[in-house]
Amino acid sequence: MKVLIVSAHPEQASLTNSLRNAAASQLQADEHEVRITDLYEIGWKCAVDRADFPTLPHGERLRVPAASGEAFSTGSLTEDVSSQQADLLWADALILAFPMWWFSMPAILKGWIDRVYSYGFAYGVGEHSDVRWGDRYGEGRLEGKRAMLIVTAGGWESHYGPRGINGPIDDLLFDPGYQVLPPVVVYQSDRVDDDGFAAAEARLRTTMASLFSVTPIPFRRQNDGDYTIPAMELTAEAVPPEVVGFGAHQSPPKQ
Ligand SMILES: Cc1cc2nc3c(=O)[nH]c(=O)nc-3n(C[C@H](O)[C@H](O)[C@H](O)COP(=O)(O)O)c2cc1C
Repeated sequence: MKVLIVSAHPEQASLTNSLRNAAASQLQADEHEVRITDLYEIGWKCAVDRADFPTLPHGERLRVPAASGEAFSTGSLTEDVSSQQADLLWADALILAFPMWWFSMPAILKGWIDRVYSYGFAYGVGEHSDVRWGDRYGEGRLEGKRAMLIVTAGGWESHYGPRGINGPIDDLLFDPGYQVLPPVVVYQSDRVDDDGFAAAEARLRTTMASLFSVTPIPFRRQNDGDYTIPAMELTAEAVPPEVVGFGAHQSPPKQ
């Protein structure tokens, strides 16, 4: 199978990049094809701006979704963006590797998503009507592909537990684009010594061995009847009204 790893860390000796390398080497050992996009190494342009839409007439107001859709449908996206989209279409699985910075991803990676997941490619796809609300949340162009996060976090595992002060890690990393696999999170990452690096890498190698067999997180599909359209709220039949939060968007385990 083919795996794209996108990493966002400025230091090759970081825990994040060590885990990325361990993932890549294990996947290659298992005879998967791997491409790595190191966003710092390629000097990824992070911010969306007018330069992303070279065919937008001078003086016309920049409406980003519309300009993005126009550029995508006419093949006039900038080369850096279109080659990343080609890599996403090439890959059977996408892995994003990053340190948690302010409860989220580093800006360079957010900027990769902002620019690469363009209108017509990752959103604004499919029929919008009273029975469907486009193709997203597991449907659409990337349907059937797997995605996984490798995250290092300075905080403790308990800080990110169900009652932890930072909020549950699964809510922070909520990402329902692909068939989403459980993330690999290494906690207390600033205190990891050489043995800890090796242990984290070993854990990751085991995870990689099941990349294409592990069961994805069972997110509900938006067009399969669990949501009202167009409000896109869970129906009371799917989930009792008093149940809220990200966890409600997962199907209950089968009995
Ligand atoms: C700007 C910045 C913001 C950070 N924010 C968080 C955070 O929100 N939660 C957390 O657990 N750790 C946070 N940390 C700690 C990083 O997650 C930690 O330094 C990193 O995972 C260490 O791994 P590395 O060797 O790959 O950099 C932050 C660090 C920096 C530099």
